[in-house]
Amino acid sequence: MTTWTPDSWRSKPISQVPAYPDQAAVVEAERQLATFPPLVFAGEARELKARLAAVARGEAFLLQGGDCAESFAEHGADHIRDFFRVFLQMAVVLTHGASKPVVKVGRVAGQFAKPRSSDTEIIDGVELPSYRGDIINAIDFNEGARIPDPHRMLQAYRQSAATLNLLRAFSMGGYAELTRIHEWTVGFMKGSNWYPRYEEVARKIDDAITFMGALGLTPDNTPALKQTSFYTSHEALLLGYEEALTRRDSISNDWYATSGHMLWIGDRTRQPDAAHVEYFAGIKNPIGIKCGPSLTSDDLLRLLDRLNPTDEAGRITLIGRFGADKVREHLPRLIETVQRAGRTVVWCSDPMHGNTIKASTGFKTRPFDRVLTEVKSFFEVHREMGTYAGGVHIEMTGDDVTECVGGVSAVTEATLSDRYNTYCDPRLNASQALELAFLVAEEIHTEKPVQQDAIAGE
Ligand code: PEP
Ligand code: CO
Repeated sequence: MTTWTPDSWRSKPISQVPAYPDQAAVVEAERQLATFPPLVFAGEARELKARLAAVARGEAFLLQGGDCAESFAEHGADHIRDFFRVFLQMAVVLTHGASKPVVKVGRVAGQFAKPRSSDTEIIDGVELPSYRGDIINAIDFNEGARIPDPHRMLQAYRQSAATLNLLRAFSMGGYAELTRIHEWTVGFMKGSNWYPRYEEVARKIDDAITFMGALGLTPDNTPALKQTSFYTSHEALLLGYEEALTRRDSISNDWYATSGHMLWIGDRTRQPDAAHVEYFAGIKNPIGIKCGPSLTSDDLLRLLDRLNPTDEAGRITLIGRFGADKVREHLPRLIETVQRAGRTVVWCSDPMHGNTIKASTGFKTRPFDRVLTEVKSFFEVHREMGTYAGGVHIEMTGDDVTECVGGVSAVTEATLSDRYNTYCDPRLNASQALELAFLVAEEIHTEKPVQQDAIAGE
């Protein structure tokens, strides 16, 4: 094996590459990016890895979520704030349900590049290159918009920096105060017809907050009630961009991706000998691997060998995205594979990407009950196999969109067109996301304590 360098992926077979017409402009954009400051620090990525190691041991729960694709058009303080608010509300509900810390990781501040099943898109007989995310081309359906433009990488970097800046301020500056988040949740639920179902949970959280207050623990004297740790993640698809932001940590001398704390490999680019896996092998960040139905047990083992040869806890999160009707067919065999190999991973469920359907009105949508069924099956399988269901990974927004059908928010196929704003896949809206959190909290609550010997690698 040749030695790894940030650009060693360039000599490997690669898929999902944009056809930039001007290579010199690509080189120039990447050269500029390489001179820009890192967005995150290696020490933060290490801290997240340690928290994910706790998830692998069954001592914490992972919540990962955000837009399918961030866009330049939706970039604004309100969009970021509304996302963060719902995310924190979900986290509080889950923390209470799990009685464990929730590790909070957004699909945000860098989630711009999209893998596509087809290189082209046909609308009314007109065929154009597919939209690949705002970091590559524009979504408008005309020829000029669809030409990949390397300057978009610089714009994505700047948007990521601004988004991260606001998120850091929110997490540390008092916006994440526990009592406030709980009040938002209750306020949000009241008046909705689903309040009775979740009222008891809300009341118990109330009691816990009152009890802590009686003990003298207040946001003013207890930072944990006022601040929170929030991390960023995205699919590292556009490797030229990632390479330019890959930096050597001055403390450990190791290479880190500094475009986000955690990166994941998509279901379409996880071939063990190809470029994306090569890139991921050399960075020390915690990483995710999307696991769809086509992932063979052999390939999973090869990936674990290549990406985590020392079986470091917290390094690998396996994000299953099978589809509600396929979880039982695939998850048990992957769990067995990992157990037999004595490997340590975080098991996480993405109940979105295997449950996309086309509505009769033509919109891509996801039925909320299928999303829910996949999550429930994920928990059931882990209960049956004595392993720990460690987290969920969802596509969501704080906005009141109509992209996924069902849930108490009563989005129907007929109302999908009202506020169908996504740049790629359909997201849960704020009320669907919160409802999912309540339902996941119920599942976690019924989870058996982890058996020590069921944790691979211990
Ligand atoms: C995504 O997470 O938006 C995505 C494209 O997922 P997957 O690689 O699992 O299809
Ligand atoms: Co998606």
